[in-house]
Amino acid sequence: MTGSGYTVLGPATLEALHDPRRDFAYDVLVGLSEKPKRLPSKYIYDDEGSQHFSRIMSLDEYYPTRCETEVLERYADEIVAPLLGGGPINLVDLGAGDGKKTMIVLDALRRAGADFTFVPIDISEGAMKELVARVRAQMPDVAIEGLVCEYTEGVHHLGREQRDRRNLVLFLGSNIGNFNRVQSRSFLLRLWSSLGEGDYALLGFDLKKDIEVLLAAYNDREGVTSAFNLGLLRRINRELGASFDLDRWRHYGTYNVFSGAMESYLVSLEPQVVEVEALEQRFAFDAWEPVHTEYSYKYLRSDVEALAHDTGFEVAGRFEDSRGWFLDALWRVKRGGHSVAPRA
Ligand code: AVJ
Repeated sequence: MTGSGYTVLGPATLEALHDPRRDFAYDVLVGLSEKPKRLPSKYIYDDEGSQHFSRIMSLDEYYPTRCETEVLERYADEIVAPLLGGGPINLVDLGAGDGKKTMIVLDALRRAGADFTFVPIDISEGAMKELVARVRAQMPDVAIEGLVCEYTEGVHHLGREQRDRRNLVLFLGSNIGNFNRVQSRSFLLRLWSSLGEGDYALLGFDLKKDIEVLLAAYNDREGVTSAFNLGLLRRINRELGASFDLDRWRHYGTYNVFSGAMESYLVSLEPQVVEVEALEQRFAFDAWEPVHTEYSYKYLRSDVEALAHDTGFEVAGRFEDSRGWFLDALWRVKRGGHSVAPRA
């Protein structure tokens, strides 16, 4: 220690403090110590969870993927048009997953003869490996620079990148629905500040609709959504040495009309105590005690307009499927002379 009496931790030291398994353990500790108990949804999306989610996307009941595919197949050329003719492009994909929908946009850029690099960002390395392999096999000419990290880290990374490329940032599939209204605003403000004037974002919003349709989509008959949600307990068992007995839990998906979100829970079917070795801690659950695991917020068209306005974007296009169930909004970064402060 020098005369100052303090040490400023540099990037390397901070890097060493950031240990994914410890972060996971800490979030489990915090969430299960809270009342009502909760677990952050991002931990559902490990390699196994990403595989389950791929199966969800092909379920009859899970309409968002089919709706958005319809939108992209119909409007991809129109969506990429504003980016053409202005030099090299980064096609950034936040939460790329299996990348099937992204391929439609990639294809539109190729057909237009654009000079672009594909930058998929995903939290699952397994999903990233498969995605890179698929793109290399199907589109060997496409340059890929994938990043395995969380969205927010990915957005920070964009902000540090060179500014000589224009960006089209995809945030598809209603991934934004995992954020609540406050989180989505701060996330989009962060995205706005990482991008430059004239960059674009294409955001997938799941629109409010018949509640029966929503309930069916998150409680499929085959039980794939249930397995996906229960996978979080399996992950805690595997990575943190916990003793969750999956037979004593039930997946429950419900719609909160007031907040406008589908909410996923794991409900304890009986009184039980679960040990988590990595935390040297036991957690008691009552019969029918819920653990919240995920939000999937649904939007009104007017919510989407307000969100663009409040976070510094200008709406450049609105693209919906034929049933009006899903909206892909093309937003353009607006800079200079505009206040992005929330309206009074
Ligand atoms: C990956 C967040 C878009 O909210 O619809 C699907 C996740 N959870 N079924 C969604 C999910 C249960 C999905 N997102």
